Amino acid sequence: MTTPCRLGGLLLLLLLGAVAVAIAASHPANEFCAAAGGGAGCGGGGDGARILIKGGTVVNAHRAEEADVYIEDGVVIAVRPNIRVGDDNVKVIDATGKFVMPGGIDPHTHLEMEFMGTVTIDDFFSGHAAALAGGTTMHIDFVIPVNGNLTAGLESYKQKAEKSAMDYGFHMAITKWNDDVSREMESMVKDHGQKVIGEPVVSGLVLNDSWLWDPDFTIASKYVMSPPIRQAGHNKALQLALSSGVLPLVGTDHCTFNSTQKAFGFDDFRKIPNGVNGIEERMHIIWDSMAETGQISGTDYVRVTSTECAKIFNIYPRKGAILEGSDADMIILNPKRSFVMGAHTHHSRSNTNVYEGRKGKGMVEVTISRGRVVWEDGILNIVPGSGRYIRTPPFGYLFDGTEKSDAAYRASLRAPVQRGKASA
Ligand SMILES: *[C@@H]1O[C@H](CO)[C@@H](O)[C@H](O)[C@H]1NC(C)=O
Ligand SMILES: *[C@@H]1O[C@H](CO)[C@@H](O)[C@H](O)[C@H]1NC(C)=O
Ligand SMILES: *[C@@H]1O[C@H](CO)[C@@H](O)[C@H](O)[C@H]1NC(C)=O
Repeated sequence: MTTPCRLGGLLLLLLLGAVAVAIAASHPANEFCAAAGGGAGCGGGGDGARILIKGGTVVNAHRAEEADVYIEDGVVIAVRPNIRVGDDNVKVIDATGKFVMPGGIDPHTHLEMEFMGTVTIDDFFSGHAAALAGGTTMHIDFVIPVNGNLTAGLESYKQKAEKSAMDYGFHMAITKWNDDVSREMESMVKDHGQKVIGEPVVSGLVLNDSWLWDPDFTIASKYVMSPPIRQAGHNKALQLALSSGVLPLVGTDHCTFNSTQKAFGFDDFRKIPNGVNGIEERMHIIWDSMAETGQISGTDYVRVTSTECAKIFNIYPRKGAILEGSDADMIILNPKRSFVMGAHTHHSRSNTNVYEGRKGKGMVEVTISRGRVVWEDGILNIVPGSGRYIRTPPFGYLFDGTEKSDAAYRASLRAPVQRGKASA
């Protein structure tokens, strides 16, 4: 490697150190493993770690059952009642009276994205810290092409993700169309599996436009996002669509700017960088506003926050489930405990939070990411560089039946007709 690359690596390490220190300083209770030498033996687990979760209710999208969960080497080994392991090196977690559920998968985020003359404040480290503290163990970020070039875009996001602390996937945004892009898309679908889908975001589900009229610019501007937050009533309609299954999953569009960045638009609202936080809040808000209120069941909650996303991106049941052989990405949620949200306790690097002061029921007490306890008793224990890129293979269930419907369309009267020159 040449000197500039080595320097680059060094710079990255220093930067990571700075981020860890910054977060640790604002949250004295937090601990971070050192970037070097993390992994095995770092905090609650690591590769080879064994965990037994006892006495909880295991909730998958297809059913809920009283069962223990045994984890080894980052993978779920067994899910059944009364698992016994006669070994002192197993960490036992008591989940009596609590729900053991697949970790959240956020299908829509923008970490370290260059946008409107600035860069979103959360990168693949602080964004992952926030996600894990809130019970989300994987996300799918949008790769933004570089001047329309998809390959260059993917390369740049792979670099951004070098400091990741949990698993992630990518979707590709298409910002321009020409023959080059068309050729690139073909090879990307072959190599990486890219597909575009849509979903409601948590801010649209629970917020209304009232704050946008606040006379304090710092308050009003933090709610500026696109599409805009609508007047009260729209949120209830979205909740209804989610509970009836019309909308199958919930994302965040986590795209966070701090108050200094938002102030770029002080004299001209069109220059306010659009975006709100949510990667840390989504799991708690959906539980409190949808499951706690009885609009959806526990199994539905798992479906809309995790399983459906895993199915759409064709990574189920490795992700989105607690089954033998699944990745050990899961949370323990205590339905009796309450939460209060805000910038003073969140893990995003932003100094503002659109859910400031929001209270509710249901607390993610433990987050396990690939078999490591990364969040427990309000303490984060994460390792930069420990996340992995999860390939999302093309042609998941959304493609089921497309061959038949294509054939039916071609045979129908609506299809364009190929006319030979000789025909009358
Ligand atoms: C796109 O970027 C890649 C990687 O940087 C480069 O190899 C390729 O030539 C670029 N394609 C075009 C059409 O510029
Ligand atoms: C709109 O949001 C505000 C602020 O969160 C809330 O106080 C108010 O009750 C909401 N309005 C309606 C009609 O839900
Ligand atoms: C917002 O982020 C920018 C860029 O990192 C930083 O310079 C600025 O001090 C931050 N503002 C606040 C209020 O934290």
